[in-house]
Amino acid sequence: MPIPQPIYLDHAATTPLRPEALEAMLPYLGGAFGNPSSAHAPGRAARNAVDEARERLAANLGGAAREVVVTSGGTEANNLAVKGAAWAGKARGNRLVVSAVEHHAVGHSAEHLAKWGFDVAWAPVDAAGRVDPGALDALLDERTVLVAVMLANNEVGTIQPIREIADRVRARRGIHLHVDAVQAAPYLDLDVAALGADTVAISAHKFEGPKGVGALWVRRGTPLLAQLHGGSQERHRRAGTENVAGIVGMAAAYALACAAKPETRARLAELRSRLQAACLAVPGVELTGHPAERLPGLLSLLVRGADGVAASVALDLEGIACSTGSACATGSPEPSHVLTAMGVPDGEALGALRLSLGRTTTAAEVDAAVALVPPVLAAIRDGSAALAADPLGTRIA
Ligand SMILES: Cc1ncc(COP(=O)(O)O)c(C=O)c1O
Repeated sequence: MPIPQPIYLDHAATTPLRPEALEAMLPYLGGAFGNPSSAHAPGRAARNAVDEARERLAANLGGAAREVVVTSGGTEANNLAVKGAAWAGKARGNRLVVSAVEHHAVGHSAEHLAKWGFDVAWAPVDAAGRVDPGALDALLDERTVLVAVMLANNEVGTIQPIREIADRVRARRGIHLHVDAVQAAPYLDLDVAALGADTVAISAHKFEGPKGVGALWVRRGTPLLAQLHGGSQERHRRAGTENVAGIVGMAAAYALACAAKPETRARLAELRSRLQAACLAVPGVELTGHPAERLPGLLSLLVRGADGVAASVALDLEGIACSTGSACATGSPEPSHVLTAMGVPDGEALGALRLSLGRTTTAAEVDAAVALVPPVLAAIRDGSAALAADPLGTRIA
């Protein structure tokens, strides 16, 4: 079978829309266009579709339908959780404890709140990108109203010990625990009620659903201030006419992702370890993130002394689509805050490269990548070394 070009190894950035999800969405992009808030028959049909999709999504997440707030994606879900919980808790305290490796949707929300009088403490991580529950515990005090720690990191794939963190946060009473599960949801078993969190964010386009739709699971009874005001949709927690097709597609895609998770995990871990072994055989290439507690399809590398952007451009020219560090950071010359928090010096952090496999990645694609990627990494590393030794190129004929 011919290998599709480019070979898409950037599933942590986004995934292709599943045909079954597209099919489920199509009626709501066409004739079934009613507004779920309208009382007439077309409106009721749309309302039924939203209600059924919400029920289905909630059941697969391990929560109740009334606890699911549909948003415009992972970014909005994280903003709603962080800002909504912080403002709801303001009368009790102003301290927020946030892991140093959060996605900017969480980290920048916390920084925004700092401008409004909140005091943000960043929970450190070790060299593998893991938060130490004890170190986080030491940052909690009687003023703390929110703790935010992601389930799995989008740049290095490290999985956090959320259960242990949740036990410590719960023991303090009254502190809201938010978990960004955007990267974890496609691959790890996720039972929101058992996780010990108050809010959990997911995003459909990471599990072969449509872009621009996500959800925040909010434990029943959790105080949360809405961030979008207008109509009474989402039980007053998020105003705006529902993205009917989006929520239907998200629920369909997540149901299929859940049914396949154990098989997907096992297959991706095997494929990833083949690609990993081939890349790490190149001198000067190192693995970043936790060696074992990591997302199954994510391979995060550092090419010593090299420029990750140059590496990803060179791979693009070879027909491999991947990313440097995080897709959201592409175009920014800044070293990744995740690698910096893990203790990687700024100069070296610029050599970050992320190859991320997904459910649709085939063994043939990985075989092709095993042949194509290592020589490019070696050439980039050698080119960088030559450039460092002879910046003006005077010794190159
Ligand atoms: C961990 C994490 N959180 C949040 C987001 C933002 O999600 P969205 O793209 O749906 O806004 C991403 C996207 O890359 C992510 O990886």
